[in-house]
Amino acid sequence: MKTLFSGIQPSGIPTLGNYIGALKQFVDIQEDYDCYFCIVDQHAITVPQDRLKLRQQTRQLAAIYLAAGLNPEKITLFIQSEVPAHVQAGWMLTTISSIGELERMTQFKDKAQKQNDGIPAGLLTYPPLMAADIILYNTDIVPVGDDQKQHIELTRNLVDRFNSRYNDILTKPEIKMPKVGGRIMSLQDPTKKMSKSDDNQKNFISLLDEPHIAAKKIKSAVTDSDGQVKYDKENKPGISNLLTIYSSLTNASIDTLETRYANEGYGKFKGDLAEIVANFLTDFQAKYNEFYQSERLDDILDEGREKAHRTSYKTLKKMEKAMGLGRKRK
Ligand code: AQP
Repeated sequence: MKTLFSGIQPSGIPTLGNYIGALKQFVDIQEDYDCYFCIVDQHAITVPQDRLKLRQQTRQLAAIYLAAGLNPEKITLFIQSEVPAHVQAGWMLTTISSIGELERMTQFKDKAQKQNDGIPAGLLTYPPLMAADIILYNTDIVPVGDDQKQHIELTRNLVDRFNSRYNDILTKPEIKMPKVGGRIMSLQDPTKKMSKSDDNQKNFISLLDEPHIAAKKIKSAVTDSDGQVKYDKENKPGISNLLTIYSSLTNASIDTLETRYANEGYGKFKGDLAEIVANFLTDFQAKYNEFYQSERLDDILDEGREKAHRTSYKTLKKMEKAMGLGRKRK
């Protein structure tokens, strides 16, 4: 069976964008792969975090993964900082990364701009750590939203570089993006990505938003003045984003939705979508609360840590030997 790896940062409560771009795909393909899902808390600290909130969000994220429909009997769910091989392999890959290629990462440029107290070095060296997360499990595919495309490309380059410089031991992963919903946009500014760490709550729908609040956010999402429910990403980014959300949550194609709402205004369309989102969140949160309050959640994370440790340690040892780290026994 091929291996799948993906991660989410506990840098806030995941949004509907994280669900559509990442979590939903995970659930759809979990039966076909040996799956590792990681809560990447060491990535979250590349920008300042409140320590108590970060720990709480880490547990919340674990419950969110499971509430989305991942089967804990089948998949491995674990926390990055509990498996030391990640930073160890991350360091090795940092040493073969160039500053120039790391500075070219658009996520680095975006996040660096927002830092007031100097740019943390970890923000620059985040991609080799992400590459380490992936390669430690001999990963074949990485399902992610399209904002991660550049990081996966870099991972592939680092694998080639490591294999040609040292020993041919790392597996080169393929990226997998959803057909619809690879980039869900902000509700108030549909030219920028929906993000869980956005300061403006109206820009995103959190998976733990109260359903009636989420419905309000959909109804007040920015659209345009021509009133036609038509997908046109360039000229009608707001309504196109809402069509994408509608299509992803109901599995109705965008063509079908355009036909269904051809003679309706935005009011009816937004009202229906608001109800769909509110119902989705009500069901989701019922499952979430059950997992969040259960001791089973900690058992799942403990079991995940053990399995992740066993697998990652084997790759780490091969990498260390290939790079000449450690010593040769007499
Ligand atoms: N707007 C989005 N639409 C579709 N997919 C998205 N993803 C993120 N935003 C969208 C996908 O969600 C997964 C987890 O992302 P992450 O937590 O690793 O970090 P991120 O990509 O930086 O996501 P955020 O929400 O924007 O987090 P912050 O605000 O902390 O930076 C990834 O697969 C990502 O592609």
